[in-house]
Amino acid sequence: MARGMILPVPELLPTEGVERLRARLATARFQDGAATAGWHAKLVKANRQLAPDDPAAAELRAIVEQAVRAHPVAMMATRPKAFGPILFSRYGAGDGYGSHVDDAIMGGVRTDVSFTLFLADPDSYEGGELVMETAAGDLAFKLPAGGALFYPSTTLHRVEPVSAGERLAAVGWIRSHVRDAAGREILFDIDTARQSLFRQSGKTAEFDLLSKSLSNLLRRWADD
Ligand code: NI
Repeated sequence: MARGMILPVPELLPTEGVERLRARLATARFQDGAATAGWHAKLVKANRQLAPDDPAAAELRAIVEQAVRAHPVAMMATRPKAFGPILFSRYGAGDGYGSHVDDAIMGGVRTDVSFTLFLADPDSYEGGELVMETAAGDLAFKLPAGGALFYPSTTLHRVEPVSAGERLAAVGWIRSHVRDAAGREILFDIDTARQSLFRQSGKTAEFDLLSKSLSNLLRRWADD
């Protein structure tokens, strides 16, 4: 499942939400994506992005943020304190986004967790995989429409060139209550184990001890 908290969530946004986003994006105004990239990322970024002043931008952003907030596993993995910008991008044939790390602060928000919400059906475009460049090698993801990949913003990553069709995606950034990815992973694992134990045996003394440990670690590590 989670590898160093690189976490695919296959159904973050239900089909109705995906269709609503696609319908609004179909008539929205897009501009050159290099406008929102840092100076070195500009060198490798080729896509189009929803213009920030488009009238649909606030509504679309709210749909994505709500989808994250409504998903228990996404919340457990990210523990959001604040959301940074949420961008909507199109990659047509020949577009891609070479290896880069996301800016540390975006829209005034420290970026701890990045996410990509896939909005196009994987069969509708060639290429366009989101690749995490980890110490253990490259991990490539091409999720179903409505699926999202969450990963530490400290990770080098890229979007492989699209060779046919169109890759439509939303990308966003989260400031977490827990800055450190290793800490988030420990909390995620304890929380997962405690919920599984609860499903098996109910509110046992062991469940209570794991709950206490989870709370007390969060209290030690959280920025409030
Ligand atoms: Ni990026």
